Amino acid sequence: MATPHIESKKEDIAKIVLMPGDPLRAEMIAKNYLEDYRIVNQVRGMNAYTGLYKGKEVTIFPSGMGIPSMGIYSYELFKFYDVEKIIRIGTTGAYTEELDLFDLVLVENSYSKSNYALDLYNSNDHVIAADQNLNAQIKKIADKNKIKLHTGNVYSTETFYDSHSNIKELYHDYNCLGAEMESYALFHNASFLNKEATCILTVSDNLITKEETTSEQRQNSLHQMIELALNSIL
Ligand code: HPA
Repeated sequence: MATPHIESKKEDIAKIVLMPGDPLRAEMIAKNYLEDYRIVNQVRGMNAYTGLYKGKEVTIFPSGMGIPSMGIYSYELFKFYDVEKIIRIGTTGAYTEELDLFDLVLVENSYSKSNYALDLYNSNDHVIAADQNLNAQIKKIADKNKIKLHTGNVYSTETFYDSHSNIKELYHDYNCLGAEMESYALFHNASFLNKEATCILTVSDNLITKEETTSEQRQNSLHQMIELALNSIL
């Protein structure tokens, strides 16, 4: 079987998928953490890998950037490949000084002004929740491993170069700890298709203090988040 964007055979995709945005990060995760992994998709260079993490089968599939790209891949994985759980692992630009670079955020709700849910599901819900069981499991593993995890909402923006959003209002009125660009599509697809999804984010920049990480630092600093996500699926 194949979809317009995924060439994998159904049996080549695991029931649990981790989704970084970047295909190179998917490759890095497969090479560093998986045993017996194989490449299961190469369409558009969105290389995906299926292998074993501590004996558990998992697929690492990149989402690409933004709501439309995440929307396509997570929809096809849930609907046509019978995927049950997706954990997005990405980065966020923090909306508060209380978050330091490299801190981890577990998303409870995603807020967006996007029309994604309206167009696809005729839904006017601009706030959509992550799966609570998945979040409880991730919190449990974080506690066990003494990993500091912030929990809260995020603003799923459609524009990285966003100059008009009111950060103070997003933080104070919507409890958005930061900006990212994909969780809104993922959570809506999971909700509509009766699947489970959540999102863990590493703070890559702070939009208040203007601190930033380099792409090299980001590449090296994501291990705590990756290990937290992988250990949560066991
Ligand atoms: N905006 C949107 N997405 C992001 C950001 C940001 O500032 N930083 C990391 N992902």
